Amino acid sequence: MKLGEACAVAPLAVSSGLLAAGAAIAFAPSVGSTPARHALRSSGAARGSATGGTVDQAACAPAVAAALVGAAAGARRSRRARRSARQALQTAFKTDMSEKIFAEAQDLMPGGVSSPVRAFKSVGGAPIVFDRVKGAYAFDVDGNKYIDYVGTWGPAIIGHADDVVLAALKDQMEKGTSFGAPSTLENVLAKMVIDAVPSVEMVRFTNSGTEACMGMLRLVRAYTNRETVIKFEGCYHGHADSFLVQAGSGVATLGLPDSPGVPKGATAGTLCAQYNNLESVEALLKENEVAAVILEPVVGNSGFIPPTKEFLQGLRELTTKYGALLVFDEVMTGFRIAYGGAQAYFGVTPDVTTMGKVIGGGLPVGAYGGRRDIMEVVAPAGPMYQAGTLSGNPLAMTAGIETMKRLQQPGSYEHLDKITKKLIGGILDAGKEAGHALCGGSISGMFGFFFCEGPVTCFADATKSDTDKFARWHRKMLERGIYLAPSQYEAGFTSLAHTEEDIDATIAAAKEVFAEI
Ligand SMILES: Cc1ncc(COP(=O)(O)O)c(C=O)c1O
Repeated sequence: MKLGEACAVAPLAVSSGLLAAGAAIAFAPSVGSTPARHALRSSGAARGSATGGTVDQAACAPAVAAALVGAAAGARRSRRARRSARQALQTAFKTDMSEKIFAEAQDLMPGGVSSPVRAFKSVGGAPIVFDRVKGAYAFDVDGNKYIDYVGTWGPAIIGHADDVVLAALKDQMEKGTSFGAPSTLENVLAKMVIDAVPSVEMVRFTNSGTEACMGMLRLVRAYTNRETVIKFEGCYHGHADSFLVQAGSGVATLGLPDSPGVPKGATAGTLCAQYNNLESVEALLKENEVAAVILEPVVGNSGFIPPTKEFLQGLRELTTKYGALLVFDEVMTGFRIAYGGAQAYFGVTPDVTTMGKVIGGGLPVGAYGGRRDIMEVVAPAGPMYQAGTLSGNPLAMTAGIETMKRLQQPGSYEHLDKITKKLIGGILDAGKEAGHALCGGSISGMFGFFFCEGPVTCFADATKSDTDKFARWHRKMLERGIYLAPSQYEAGFTSLAHTEEDIDATIAAAKEVFAEI
């Protein structure tokens, strides 16, 4: 193959924090924001409750609340009032409990977390320890309330802890939490997925997106009787060995492992191409017997990078021409950018699809599905083995079903699209007005931006973003009650629970932060 045509550097498990690792940044403490806090208060975002040990900061600190409201008088404020409001806010945003708990966690779990990116390594500062979530909001152990744009990394598309989902879960719990036997609930969710997702005629449930991608990988190899797969720089498909591939310049086809412990043999069959670059894919297809081309149909794991429609259509044609399967990893985009996922949105139908996040409604679920003739290779219908003790468990199925029912209601995706466009538009305008180089975008409830001139069409473009500036932006937004993904290389998510007022408050905070960084 022509090495120059293949992407030289492989991707990485950006979501798992590999990309972000080692980029810790120290922050000077900074003052909070007055108008933004005021907007948050008006929208209800700063009204915490004392449930579960958290403290309502407005209720407990009337002086702080008074200072905040007083400070919102905009241009007419005196310097003295502004100063006192800042001092009040410095007092208001406290992280003592978070820091204490995280310090203990670091002694108990590697890096103090159960998944790397949660540790805030790439933005610096200690992570916020959550106490509870509801709707569009997260509440931390210090009593701070945040408008949440992480949404537990995607699943919370109808808002956190939705009352209908919780009620259904309570009912289901009475009947048992795990069957390890067939249940009607699996049929219900399977039918919903099959009805919605164009490529899916049969589905297998798993417990996570990683597991779904592992099953999918074995399936495409079993079905085609070929071993090599092509993925894209900057696309993440879970933490299975074969997807953790790093390649130095010109050695993409060598499939060097990106993490210690990944054997060379596990990644030798993983080639890497450049996103939105059909030539890089065809060069690999010409030189190798490829089982499948696997991609995030909209990239969310190196920041938000949309595909061109021609790219997706071109992949459909190329894979058909070279006898490879086309796989959309819709763990993130499935039921998020449209009810039928990216394949419905762009009108390009892959052979196999992986899903997760939204279809579990906040409980651990993944799934892979595709054409009947392909899926019938999976055991026990066929010879390809894949299994799971808790797969398809009734609680996860219930949360998924109720979440999808809510998404089916008219106006769901219109709402997501409207508020997310307003959010990213407001952020980009505010940043540009303050003189920052910025580019970004959104599709339905998924968004992102980079601190660089655009366009960003692939991972190499994304790395031009000023990540130090992103880290400063992240912390200062956090201090103003806006919870964003703690890495430049992650997409953001909105939900049906986010209101126009939440978006206004977020843009108001962004304006202040852009002026300061
Ligand atoms: C596109 C994609 N595939 C796979 C995964 C892995 O899913 P999980 O974290 O549930 O294992 C993720 C996780 O973010 C993802 O975004």
